[in-house]
Amino acid sequence: MTQPAFDPQAVDLAALRGRLSAKYQLYPPDVLPAWVAEMDFPLAAPIAAALHAAIDRSDTGYPSGAGVADALAAFAGRAWGWEIVPTRVLVLADVLTGVAQSLRSLTEPGDAVVLTPPVYPPFFATVEKASGRRVVDVPMTGDAQEGYALDLDGLAAAFARPDVTAFVLCSPHNPTGTVPTPTELATIAELAAEHGVAVVADEIHAPLALPGATHTPYLSVASDDVPAVSLVSASKAWNLPGLKCAQVVATAPALRRLRERVPQEVLHGAGHLGAIAAVAAYRDGGDWLRAVVAAVDVNRRLLADLLAEHIPGTGYRPPEATYLAWLDLRAVADGDDPARVMLERGRVAVSGGLPFGAGGAGHVRLNLATSSAVLVEAVTRMARGLDPR
Ligand SMILES: Cc1ncc(COP(=O)(O)O)c(C=O)c1O
Repeated sequence: MTQPAFDPQAVDLAALRGRLSAKYQLYPPDVLPAWVAEMDFPLAAPIAAALHAAIDRSDTGYPSGAGVADALAAFAGRAWGWEIVPTRVLVLADVLTGVAQSLRSLTEPGDAVVLTPPVYPPFFATVEKASGRRVVDVPMTGDAQEGYALDLDGLAAAFARPDVTAFVLCSPHNPTGTVPTPTELATIAELAAEHGVAVVADEIHAPLALPGATHTPYLSVASDDVPAVSLVSASKAWNLPGLKCAQVVATAPALRRLRERVPQEVLHGAGHLGAIAAVAAYRDGGDWLRAVVAAVDVNRRLLADLLAEHIPGTGYRPPEATYLAWLDLRAVADGDDPARVMLERGRVAVSGGLPFGAGGAGHVRLNLATSSAVLVEAVTRMARGLDPR
């Protein structure tokens, strides 16, 4: 047996308090942070080495993006059999910038854009404020207990509307952890081609498909003649969001529009250290990622036992991908926002469901990228928060 790349159980909360990132700074020290999608794990050794080496050679100039597209293409080929042409890749600061710029490039002001709530909250503002487009909801079908799926009939009806010109596909889906099947994706690609809808596929969680699930890259099933993009990044799977480097992979017509419309400052927005870290992650981060996936797999199953013991009646189906658990507390908690009492009385910060849009009331999202001991503590605190005594 080979040794795991690191010990995911060796999470030291006191040491994590020294981190200056959002997860550890937003709440006072007596609150256990289990909200935003940052991991409690140490940086992957090959990434840390690449960053230390960059500092040692004072390599802090403008980003060249050197090697990012090639490293991504090699990783995508190994991971998913997806052949990316490196010249089809643009390097930007982050995935949300990619979503905003793709919508601005592939649609017109006032157009309608389909989202699938409950879904990653910043999409709403990205469509409406950053891009000046309108949101059309096609909610996921199912629930947190039975699992969710894309509503293909709802998408077909929405795509047929003349004002709908784009669809933000979140695959794997945050917060439900659903991984769309190749058949579902092929149906979406057919509908998009038929109705002239540009698909903006946010695939940031793709490397975090858990045992039993296989991620299918949207562009591997879509026609290269139809405007579509995939947004990917090493930032989620290797915990690098502060370093600012994401990639847009575009079909031929989408690339033409992006080149015409994306402003120069956006094309220069990626971080140089982020690009260096992304190359190290895609090239040499496999062992570390496997250890993370194994730890999240353990935690997603442990969570079912912990909920049965401490908060029976919670709707929960272990995610197929991501390190996020989506919990339906409507049968056990009063009000729409159980995260609030969990924070106030339980001293644990989870993400409240309301900002995730339709279907978010009475739900919370819990971060599983931690040790099993911290997960036990989080669920104990969540239960305490729900108990008014
Ligand atoms: C689905 C999804 N898209 C985008 C992001 C944010 O990515 P970035 O920091 O690259 O904008 C997240 C972060 O958790 C996410 O879950």
